[in-house]
Amino acid sequence: MKKIGVLTGGGDCPGLNTVLRAVVKTAMVKYGYEVTGFKDGYRGLVMNEYIRFKSGDVSGILDKGGTILGTSNKDNPFNFRVETDGRVEYKDMSDRVMENVKMHGIDCMVLIGGDGTLTSARDFARKGMKVVGVPKTIDNDLSATDTTFGFMTAVETATDAIDKLHSTAESHHRVMILEVMGRYAGWIALESGIAGGADVILIPEIPYDMNKVAQKITERKNAGKSFSIVVAAEGAKSLTGDMVVSKIMSDSPDPIRLGGIGNKIAGEIEELTGIETRVTVLGHLQRGGRPVPYDRILSTRYGVEAVEMINKGLSGKMVSLQGNEITSVSLENAVGKLKTVPPDGELVRIAKSVGVGFGD
Ligand code: F6P
Repeated sequence: MKKIGVLTGGGDCPGLNTVLRAVVKTAMVKYGYEVTGFKDGYRGLVMNEYIRFKSGDVSGILDKGGTILGTSNKDNPFNFRVETDGRVEYKDMSDRVMENVKMHGIDCMVLIGGDGTLTSARDFARKGMKVVGVPKTIDNDLSATDTTFGFMTAVETATDAIDKLHSTAESHHRVMILEVMGRYAGWIALESGIAGGADVILIPEIPYDMNKVAQKITERKNAGKSFSIVVAAEGAKSLTGDMVVSKIMSDSPDPIRLGGIGNKIAGEIEELTGIETRVTVLGHLQRGGRPVPYDRILSTRYGVEAVEMINKGLSGKMVSLQGNEITSVSLENAVGKLKTVPPDGELVRIAKSVGVGFGD
């Protein structure tokens, strides 16, 4: 009987519980393996905080947002925050993690997360741990898979918000700005903007000129359309400016938190167009709630495949969606490269064809 461990790391996203369910059911029911879940991302592996799964533990969680294991986007086991007598230090705790995994007799760890979690997965593989990675993030910015689970649910949430903003924008003859997540990649803004019929989409990959944004809105007004919808990714920036940072989390491996682009551009749009402009920041609503059916199916495919890979004795790999096939890629090649929106790619082109402005 094999023993496997599992954790969820980084920011949460819809579908994490669905992956856990698929991993536990396939491992315990299909193969009779033992499954140990570590709590709150890598923190649980460092501190040896865990649960020994019973198959009933994953009943009824298919459609639940969040993760029953908890998660953390602060705990890097290679640079782990330790507080002794009020003094804070950052220490490499990876050897302790290796010992804990050995102590539990774990044959392979399933590490579910985004680029940060998967980079540590690669580093543990280099240290000799058997690992299989599962790619997650609402941002859909991992280069080694076509789609991460959670993304489609975030797009659905953002599209629903755009639909609702449309009616009130039209009634009041206003410009409505929707600020969505997507740090360095504008996929959520682009896809929800196309799906919701936005008039302007601002993404980090296409720096905008505010005069062109205002011109687009004014042209609409002159053509009798007295309202406009602008979707801005939190990482959007002007030709001359930088991304808008909302705060720095000094205890996080990736300390920059973006936010505020909506309010920044609202004043500029109002001044240049003379149209009343309002802002909605969608924030963490995009990370919560029930996964859409696409994400439930993708999460299940990833979770089942992770266990099938372990059963075949594979390791150092990440499950990946290529076209419509679930396959695997080496973790060595899977991390450190973000998948960003190609500015002249098909999605941007079709958006432009139907009249969307990008401020370029
Ligand atoms: O990477 C996922 C993500 O949701 C980003 O889109 C966003 O910028 C960030 O995480 C927010 O992180 P936090 O939950 O720490 O504010």
